Amino acid sequence: MRTVITFGTFDVLHIGHVRILQRAREQGDRLVVGVSSDALNYSKKQRNPVYPETERRDIIASLACVDQVFLEQSLELKGEYIKEFGADVLVMGNDWEGRFDEYKSLCEVIYLPRTDGISTTQLIAEIKKYG
Ligand code: CTP
Repeated sequence: MRTVITFGTFDVLHIGHVRILQRAREQGDRLVVGVSSDALNYSKKQRNPVYPETERRDIIASLACVDQVFLEQSLELKGEYIKEFGADVLVMGNDWEGRFDEYKSLCEVIYLPRTDGISTTQLIAEIKKYG
């Protein structure tokens, strides 16, 4: 059983999120997703996500390619989460290329290409135009 772990905010779910989760799942037999908590997002971006953490978590948990979800409380705990969930592979989008290489001592680290032309930030900006 090869366990894959990945992390993200996954606010206002879009096709880039779905594709990376499907491709992450293809790297192993079981996919665990750490969904960033509201507090973690606020500390990173000084704004709250559109969907609260419980809704973002439940949406991700409903996807067929996802086996288990938890709330990521701190960026510094990634190593602990990798050990706790017995991850063999850490998958991140290539917007993070090289930034998680420190975890190569714990598991394999794979960066997958992002889907071009879409992001939550961009979607929110588009939606605001219709306000
Ligand atoms: N992702 C992707 N393709 C996109 C957007 C996101 O593959 N077009 C991936 C990211 O690389 C990450 C995961 O989806 O591994 C979660 O990314 P997240 O930051 O939640 O999504 P973004 O749309 O990038 O959000 P934001 O614009 O707020 O940064």
